Amino acid sequence: MNSTVILKGNILYTSRPSEFISIQHGYIIAVDGVVVYCGESIPPAYADCEVTDYGDNLIIPGFVDTHAHAPQYCNRGLGMDKELLPWLETYTFPEEAKFSNLDYARLVYGAFVQDLWRNGTTRSILFGTIHKESTLVLMELLQKAGLSAYVGKVNMDRNSPDFLIEETSQSLADTKDWLEASAQFGPLVKPIITPRFVPSCTSELMDGLGTLSEEYKVPVQSHLSENHGEIDWVGALHPESPNYTDVYYEHKLMGRTPTVMAHCIHLSDIEMDRMAETQTMVSHCPYSNVNLSSGIAPIRKLMKRNIPIGLGSDISGGHIVSMAKVLTEAIGLSKMKWVEVDSNYAPLTLSEAFYMATKGGGKFFGKVGSFEKGCELDALIIDDTSLFDPNERTLEERLERWLYVGDDRHIVERYVAGQVLLNPQGFQG
Ligand code: GUN
Ligand code: ZN
Repeated sequence: MNSTVILKGNILYTSRPSEFISIQHGYIIAVDGVVVYCGESIPPAYADCEVTDYGDNLIIPGFVDTHAHAPQYCNRGLGMDKELLPWLETYTFPEEAKFSNLDYARLVYGAFVQDLWRNGTTRSILFGTIHKESTLVLMELLQKAGLSAYVGKVNMDRNSPDFLIEETSQSLADTKDWLEASAQFGPLVKPIITPRFVPSCTSELMDGLGTLSEEYKVPVQSHLSENHGEIDWVGALHPESPNYTDVYYEHKLMGRTPTVMAHCIHLSDIEMDRMAETQTMVSHCPYSNVNLSSGIAPIRKLMKRNIPIGLGSDISGGHIVSMAKVLTEAIGLSKMKWVEVDSNYAPLTLSEAFYMATKGGGKFFGKVGSFEKGCELDALIIDDTSLFDPNERTLEERLERWLYVGDDRHIVERYVAGQVLLNPQGFQG
């Protein structure tokens, strides 16, 4: 099959963090879902092909959310006066336990998937729960919606409540079953090994998961260095390891297959060196880090070390699904670090934050998040004409304004790998 898609409109994307590439009334051509051309005029070879003309609308890459907990969707905005560990105990674990019920899982996951679609999050890296069946339901709903995602069945075999804990060998056996079952979902929806975080996984479990990740060539996601109480706890549980990062490293959960770690707020220089050496991606989750009083991640320092960085909503530590809002919050938080903490710290620019929300996080999926040749065509069509402005604006100014004051009502079309996505029939509330 050789299918050609040609989009025309006002194109805006990044190739590097430092600048936008903008093309007024330009063309994007994709063959079999992959961009073969992006430029000002249509190459003669495609002159007879059908063009979908979006007029004056903006065309931007789809957003990538590198960290969210799908089962926490109904907990958004709850317990925001708490820090991480009491918040997990009071709100998160009881909610996640409900996902042993497949009807409940289908209801909540349907609503969550529809919200991803609505907000233009075309790719995401998601936590499910310890329950393999409901995690498969989440994967099925994402696949039906045409969205792309890595989805993880969570593993927890210690320091967890009776109603949300696994026995070690059962956890590994369930993970193997679930990895095998995941093969049915095709290229856009894939499994990711998901130890919740070090405090809730024994060494035996982490070793087993590291082995499964290598055996099945599946990436890994977890949490790292989010909160001081958590870090001290990991130190007490693993006196044999020099630091939190190396607990994962020593259990083969970093550096063997691609890994993404959420938060990474309080890493030491040595830990950052390990992240750089293993090219482990950081998922920066600004709303969550504010809500749970976790801290401000040293994003500039991570960038200087060439550590890959994506942005995460961290539903429901973060309360906002929209990656447009997550990226403006990342900029805002970086300004606070500059003003309040370190006057040598340069706040994030719009193009840097936009890059993280598209191509930066997209790297976890391959060539994703840009309109360069060879990238999968994930795109959003933004009709910002109702954000009334009688003045001529550059495409960059229009994008900035939409990111700050616009919302999902202005997203008129979504594409993943060259396919238009219809509204998934989830929860209609
Ligand atoms: N650390 C372990 N579990 C979680 C979780 O569900 N959310 C966040 N933000 N941090 C975690
Ligand atoms: Zn998280």
